[in-house]
Amino acid sequence: MLQQEEVKSVDDVLDQAEGQRGILITVLQRTQEKLGYLPEEAMRMISGRLSMSLSTVYGVASFYKHFHFKPRGKNIVKVCMGTACHVRGAKAVLNEMEAKFGVKEGETTEDLAVTLETVGCVGCCALAPVVTVNDKDLYGELTPKMVDDIIDMVRSEHGTHA
Ligand code: FES
Repeated sequence: MLQQEEVKSVDDVLDQAEGQRGILITVLQRTQEKLGYLPEEAMRMISGRLSMSLSTVYGVASFYKHFHFKPRGKNIVKVCMGTACHVRGAKAVLNEMEAKFGVKEGETTEDLAVTLETVGCVGCCALAPVVTVNDKDLYGELTPKMVDDIIDMVRSEHGTHA
């Protein structure tokens, strides 16, 4: 259930979209920016105010990998599974991350500290295998020891207790 403040955020987004055609994706983006994801209640509000069926709104949102329907972690850790990283041990890195964070790929830790995801090539194949944290910090040429260090760093530097 959305908090009153969150309902107001979605209402504000919808007020700004009033009367504009083809605004659904923008509304979804702005709603996700405000709430961090697209909860069902927000999707229902969007459906009602834009006079679109809920299935249409979900259909459009689920077409794009960018949109999320569950809360995401404060930190987003992505293991590159592109060809170069795969060949150089990305699966072992992912397995280690899953074991240490206690979640599977695509899941978020219970305390919402970390979401663990995989990603296609991030363009740094020479550094394979590669992990990114919050889409800004990149760690390459990973070894199992470095994976432990990254996990410790995410827990401390990024202010989590995962
Ligand atoms: S395959 Fe991982 S950076 Fe290119």
